[in-house]
Amino acid sequence: MRKPKICRLVVATCFGSFVLVIFYFQSNSNPAAEQGNFWNGWQGKAGRSPLQTLYDGDQVELSAAQVTHQSRRDLLDRTCQAYTRKKRVLTPDDLKHLIVDDRHGLLYCYVPKVACTNWKRVLMVLTGDGKYRDPLKIPANEAHVPSNLRTLSEYSTSEINHRLRNYLKFAFVREPFERLVSAYRNKFTRKYNTAFHKRYGTKIVKRHRPDPSDEALEHGDDVSFEEFVYYLVDPHTQREEPFNEHWERVHSLCHPCIIHYDVVGKYETLDEDARYILQLAGVSDRVQFPSSSKSTRTTDDMTAQFFRKISPFYQKKLYNLYKMDFLLFNYSLPTYLNFR
Ligand SMILES: *[C@@H]1O[C@H](CO)[C@@H](O)[C@H](O)[C@H]1NC(C)=O
Repeated sequence: MRKPKICRLVVATCFGSFVLVIFYFQSNSNPAAEQGNFWNGWQGKAGRSPLQTLYDGDQVELSAAQVTHQSRRDLLDRTCQAYTRKKRVLTPDDLKHLIVDDRHGLLYCYVPKVACTNWKRVLMVLTGDGKYRDPLKIPANEAHVPSNLRTLSEYSTSEINHRLRNYLKFAFVREPFERLVSAYRNKFTRKYNTAFHKRYGTKIVKRHRPDPSDEALEHGDDVSFEEFVYYLVDPHTQREEPFNEHWERVHSLCHPCIIHYDVVGKYETLDEDARYILQLAGVSDRVQFPSSSKSTRTTDDMTAQFFRKISPFYQKKLYNLYKMDFLLFNYSLPTYLNFR
């Protein structure tokens, strides 16, 4: 007799949380048309919002950048349709990675290891009321202080919907395995990252190293790339808690099949894609995207080196884990992999 009661309780709880869900209708017609008179102070061309500028109906000729971004959007749409069976609705928790610029009408989904520090710096300049001028003068740690920027999850449901419909939504992506190796190098091979060693390193050593030394168990500061891979593909890992954002998939951080991104920038073409977005926002004369230093950058060759130590069996498991990021953003199967 107890069972039905519990069932009812579960159903009631589910229904309760359903009310919190956010309804976000993406109109298929020109999204900028709904803009109305909400806010006319846009700084873009002729007082238009970046979204209106992007989908401007009277442009006869499309620039090369517009063609590129249109084909990225189309591919993303097609892949989402092919691989997502059921449409889920967004919850505030899904919106924690979306940074809001109310002044310029921008929504940026930040993905760690894809120039996100520089984007946060640029958005601090754009939203800072003249407090900052030069993005590079903002210390990296300050760019990551949560209170310096607002995220979409902090707004009310109607404010969220309004922004999702009317703002230019963009994200930056990177070849998934290059991003992963970059995260590994940054978090596990640098002596100063003791927080990551303690939080993740000790756990990885304990679970994935046969016969670990007491020292390794205590410090967790010598995790190998192979051990990191074992940790990622172990089903137990994600059952316990979501991946850390540095190795979480873009698919799970930014929800590109629910939120229709207007511009998908790529790390591989960072400078030109950043320029395009700043142009759409009408701010390219005020702020320049910092050009990245290439010295410590993780490259394709370097990534291949790291994967040489991974067996085909684990390569395949890891590929399956990151597969959606490969497909959604048009990254092909790396040639250094040796499973077929
Ligand atoms: C996908 O990538 C291939 C080769 O890397 C390229 O030729 C093609 O134009 C890309 N497609 C889109 C939609 O970006």
